[in-house]
Amino acid sequence: MTTIDWDELRDHALAAMAKAYAPYSKFPVGAAALVDDGRIVSGCNVENASYGLGLCAECALVSALAMTGGGKLVAFTCVDGNGETLMPCGRCRQLLFEHSAAGMLLNTVSGIKTIDEVIPDAFGPSTLAAFAPSDPADTTTCEGCQ
Ligand code: THU
Repeated sequence: MTTIDWDELRDHALAAMAKAYAPYSKFPVGAAALVDDGRIVSGCNVENASYGLGLCAECALVSALAMTGGGKLVAFTCVDGNGETLMPCGRCRQLLFEHSAAGMLLNTVSGIKTIDEVIPDAFGPSTLAAFAPSDPADTTTCEGCQ
C-alpha cells in the first residue's frame, strides 16, 4: 500500500501551476497525482489562441503518466492560481477515471473523495469490454457502427 503524502502532492501541484500557460483565461491550474509505484506525476493547463483547444492540467498529467511508465493513479490533487484546491472539471474526471487505481482518492473542495464518488456509474473500459463481440471480425452486433 502506497502512503499518500497530501502535502507533498500539493507541493507538486503548486509547482506545476507555476508553469501554466493561461494567457486567455488567466486561470492557471496545477495538478499532481501519486502513481501506484510511488512516483508522482503532474501537469499544468496549456491554453491556445484557438480557445477550444486549450488543454487542462489533467491532460498534461495523464500524458506525463504515460510518458514516464504508465501505471494507475492512487491519489490526486489540483490547485488554482491562489493555491486553493480545485475540483477537476467533468471531462477531466473522465480522463482520471480511465487511469485510476481501484479506490483512487481525490482531494476535493468537499474533502477526500473516491473516484467513484466524483464520477459515479462512469463510462469506461469495462463498458466497452462488456459490449465487444466475441469475434472481433463480427461487426454486425451494432447496426449504428456499420
Ligand atoms: N482547467 C484545468 O486545467 N483543469 C480543470 O479541471 C478545470 C479547468 C483549466 C482550463 C482552462 O485553461 C482554465 O482552467 C479555465 O477554464
